[in-house]
Amino acid sequence: MGQSALSIIVLAAGAGTRMRSALPKVLHRIGGAPMLQHVLATAAAARPSATVVVTGHGAMEVEAAARRIDAGVQLARQEEPRGTADAVRAAADALAGAAGDTLVLYGDAPLIQAETLMEMQAARAAGADIVVLGFEAADPTGYGRLILGEDGTLSRIVEEREADAETRAVRLCNSGVLIAGTETLFDLIAAVRDDNAKKEFYLTDIIEIGASHGLRTQVVICPEAETLGVNSRADLAVAEAAFQARVRDAMLAAGVTLTAPETVFFAHDTAIGEDAVIGPHVVFGPGVQVARGAEIRAFCHLEHCAIAEGATVGPFARFRGGADIGRDAKIGNFVEIKGSDIGQGAKIGHLSYVGDATVGEEANIGAGTITCNYDGVFKHRTEIGARAFIGSNSALVAPVRVGEEAMTGSGSVITQDVPDGDLAIARGRQSNKPGLARRLMARLRAMKQGKAG
Ligand code: UD1
Ligand code: MG
Repeated sequence: MGQSALSIIVLAAGAGTRMRSALPKVLHRIGGAPMLQHVLATAAAARPSATVVVTGHGAMEVEAAARRIDAGVQLARQEEPRGTADAVRAAADALAGAAGDTLVLYGDAPLIQAETLMEMQAARAAGADIVVLGFEAADPTGYGRLILGEDGTLSRIVEEREADAETRAVRLCNSGVLIAGTETLFDLIAAVRDDNAKKEFYLTDIIEIGASHGLRTQVVICPEAETLGVNSRADLAVAEAAFQARVRDAMLAAGVTLTAPETVFFAHDTAIGEDAVIGPHVVFGPGVQVARGAEIRAFCHLEHCAIAEGATVGPFARFRGGADIGRDAKIGNFVEIKGSDIGQGAKIGHLSYVGDATVGEEANIGAGTITCNYDGVFKHRTEIGARAFIGSNSALVAPVRVGEEAMTGSGSVITQDVPDGDLAIARGRQSNKPGLARRLMARLRAMKQGKAG
């Protein structure tokens, strides 16, 4: 788009006292991913040439997480929490000599959308020296207020603490997100003083300072839901709900049927194909891919798994790490699958645990089958061949292989490999005692009467 180079600063040094948590605030999760990850993903969508995360409180942990999320981010420390301007200044060295613009984001505002940032960049490209992201607050308490001049540009931002009654009545608020020329930004920050109620360096002061030098600040407005900042567990729950609502809408728009959308919970990376049907009360943990046309019935809990086209899963199925479900496979109720490849058209209908297994095409796993994959120290694999038939209530003691088109008798404990095409029976042999049941009963009843009499 011919826009100039972009640097991004993510402020994440705040203490987050109101979270009452040993975990730094920006590492609390929304949709299964740390808030910082959401912000860095949005940042990355703007294709910046540099991204700097400013850390302070819990710096080591936040820095390690930032590196894990995106090895390309730079890190800067703010030694003391002396305000948002000071936090931005902490990134100055990392961006020394950077051309173009700098965008400031907050690590605790995870719902900002990439499109909104593009709008800000466009306003900047159209000539504004600084662009501030604002929103109409339902309740503006606690936010900085945006004071517009007669020409509609922003003349200053007044923090709640410094605001008189008239200013407090303004509902147009500062999200904290802004973009400016990198050089301009750091020049203005150098002029910020801490002569205010909190004795902090307010980033918001750069607007008035800029205006006094003839710089024009434009406001871009976005929905309040996007600017939502998390300061407490209650805020975190609100942000989670907003995130879920957004993903549900996106899923519906993308051609996924959600029978009861408000009961389905998604992770940040849930991927579902067109014409998939998701029943009520399904929870997606991280790392789930559902192919087009697959059906997930009610009350499934799925994480780190892939479900191929045409497969049906549930109700009440649980997939943990590494469940790979083949095309048209049928996984029924109360089935737990982990670390397993389930072949095309295979059926695991009822009450089974399949762990560390390979299940061949069209194999049928009877009710109550358990792969005994763990010996207390090591995990072992079970291999089940194509079109094999595992009798109900079989225990397959791994490592073990049941061959193609092989069968196991119900109730078998299979400890040795079963060759292709063989039937294995590994259980006590049945013997019938003629008439013994009736005779036994008669004796027991007689005993009971004797005692009572
Ligand atoms: C800030 C804005 C306010 C805006 C509000 C939106 C200022 C002075 N005020 O107020 O206009 O309406 O956000 O939520 O900018 N941080 C640091 N180091 C610091 C201080 C803060 O890294 O020394 C980080 C925090 O971790 C947080 C962000 O900056 O991510 C905002 O800080 P916070 O203290 O929440 O600012 P507010 O008082 O809410
Ligand atoms: Mg705040």
